[in-house]
Amino acid sequence: MSVNIREVATTPFNDQKPGTSGLRKKTRQFQQPGYLENFVQAIFNTLPGKAGAKLVVGGDGRYFNREAIQTIIRMAVANGLGEIIVGQHGFLSTPAASCVIRKYQTLGGIVLSASHNPGGPDEDFGLKFNAANGGPAPEQLTNAIYVASKEIESYRISESEDIDLDTLGDVHIGNARVRVIDPVADYAELMRSIFDFGKIGAMLKSGDFGFCFDAMWAITGIYAKAIFEEELGAPRGTVINGEPLTDFGGHHPDPNLVHAKELVAKLFSDDGPDFGAASDGDGDRNMILGRQFYVTPSDSVAIIAANARLIPGYRDGLRGVARSMPTSAALDAVASKLGIPCFETPTGWKFFGNLLDAGRITLCGEESFGTGSDHVREKDGIWAVLCWLNMLAERQQPVEDIVHEHWLTYGRNFYTRHDFEGISSEDGAAIMEHLRTLVASPKQVSDWLENEGAETGLASCDDFAYTDPVDESISENQGIRLQFSDGSRIIYRLSGTGTVGATLRVYIEKPVKEAGRQQADTQETLAELIALSRKFARIEEISGRTEPSVIT
Ligand code: G1P
Ligand code: ZN
Repeated sequence: MSVNIREVATTPFNDQKPGTSGLRKKTRQFQQPGYLENFVQAIFNTLPGKAGAKLVVGGDGRYFNREAIQTIIRMAVANGLGEIIVGQHGFLSTPAASCVIRKYQTLGGIVLSASHNPGGPDEDFGLKFNAANGGPAPEQLTNAIYVASKEIESYRISESEDIDLDTLGDVHIGNARVRVIDPVADYAELMRSIFDFGKIGAMLKSGDFGFCFDAMWAITGIYAKAIFEEELGAPRGTVINGEPLTDFGGHHPDPNLVHAKELVAKLFSDDGPDFGAASDGDGDRNMILGRQFYVTPSDSVAIIAANARLIPGYRDGLRGVARSMPTSAALDAVASKLGIPCFETPTGWKFFGNLLDAGRITLCGEESFGTGSDHVREKDGIWAVLCWLNMLAERQQPVEDIVHEHWLTYGRNFYTRHDFEGISSEDGAAIMEHLRTLVASPKQVSDWLENEGAETGLASCDDFAYTDPVDESISENQGIRLQFSDGSRIIYRLSGTGTVGATLRVYIEKPVKEAGRQQADTQETLAELIALSRKFARIEEISGRTEPSVIT
C-alpha cells in the first residue's frame, strides 16, 4: 500500500525538556495540537540510522495511550522507519518494552507512560525514548532531543488509516511493516530463563503458601496473571485489581504503603497471606510485603544481592551492584562482604545503563521501589517479585525472618523518605538554593549541627556530582548530602517527575549494628535526624509546610 506523507509546519513548545524519566505533562497538554507530534519529531530528528530501522512502541494503557500510538506509528512511517513493533492493545510494560527492544535488536523504543502518576483526561501522560540497549535515553540524548524540540519547524506524518491494535499480526504501510505482538510472551520467556519456575510453581501450588499480587488496575495485571496464575499455577484471584484501566480506577498506581491500601490491609490482617507484592502503572516498580511486615526497597535490593546465588540466573555470582545516591547503604554492606564493587549513581534508572552495558554490575536498585538487573535496562516489578518468590521457595522461611537474619548479619539501615509535594516551584528552588549555599562551607554546617546539639558529628556535605565511570560524563547538582560520622545521612533533592509545582524529597538514614536496637520503630529511631532535616533546610520558613505529604 503506497501512502501519502505530509510535512506539517509547526512552532516549538518551549517546555519539552525530559525529566528523570522522559517528558511528563498533564494529559491535556499532550493533547494540544502538535505537542506530541513536535516531541516525537524532535526524537526522530535526533536519532541517527533510522532509515529502515526497527522501532518499538507501546505504553502503560493509560488514557490517550491508543491515540498517541496511532500518531507515533504514522510519524514513524513518515520518517522512514522500516518496522514498527507494537504491543497488542498498545500495551507494553516498561520492562517488557526494554526486553523487546533488546530481543529484536531495534533502534530503540517509544514508551508511553507517566509511571505511577494517576491517569485520565485531567491527570498525567508521559513519553520516553529508550535506546537500543533497552534503557532510558542517556542525558546527552535527552538534551539533544530538547534542543531539537526548540528548533522544530515541521513534522512528518503519513496519511494512513489507524492500525488495528487489537489483532496480532503484520500490516504494511508504504515501505514499513507494523507488527502487533503479544506484549507478554517475550517477557515471560525471559523470566523463565532466569528463575526456577519449577520450584516456585511447586510452592505456589502447594496450598501452604499464601500470595497476593496487587496490579493496581494497571498494565502489570496482564503479566501477573499470565506468569503467576497461568504459568506458575498460583490460585485464581492471587492477582487483584488485575484488569488494566485507562484511569487506574481513579487511583495512584503507586506501590507503596499509602496507595496500595487493599494489599496492605490484606497482609496486615490476622490471617493474611505469607507474601504480598504490588507494582506501578507501567510495571517497573515493586513493593514487597511479608505477613504483617514491610520490606523497604533499599533492604529488598540488598537482600536480593545477598541471596542472588539461590536464583539460577545469578548462580555464578554478581559482578557488581549499584544504587542511586539517596538509596540506603544496605546494599554497600552486602557488596563489601561479597567483595564486589558498589556504585553510587544519581537518581533515575538511566544512570545504571552504562554500568550494566559495560558488565560492571549485575544488580541495581533505588529506594523508590525500583529494583532490576542486567536482564533488561529498566527496573522491573515482576522480576523483583520473582526474585523474592525464588528466595522464599529455596529458603522456606517467612519474609520477616529472612529480613531479620539479614539485619543481624549486615546491620540495619533505618530509612525513611519524606516528600513535601505540591510546593511552589519558587519555594522549591529557594530551599535548594539555601541548601547549596550552606553546604558550600562545611565548617558552617558543622557549627550549626553542634549548636543544635546533634548526636553525631558531620563527616562531609556537598551537592552530589557524578562522573560516569564508563564514559566519564559528569552530572552535577544531583542532590544535597549531609553525611554523619556514624554513617547516617540526610539528603535533599527536588523531584524530576512531577508535572506541577515542586516536590521536595528528604531522605533520612541511620545504620544500626546492635541487634537489640534493630526492631525499633523507624520514625522514632530517625526522629532526631528528621527534626534536624526540617530546620536545616528551613522548610517551614520558606514553604510554610510543617509536615510532609507522603512518608515512605
Ligand atoms: C522518581 C524516583 C526515582 C525514579 C523515578 C522514575 O524520580 O525518585 O528514583 O527513578 O521516579 O520512576 P523523582 O520524582 O524523584 O525525580
Ligand atoms: Zn514506573
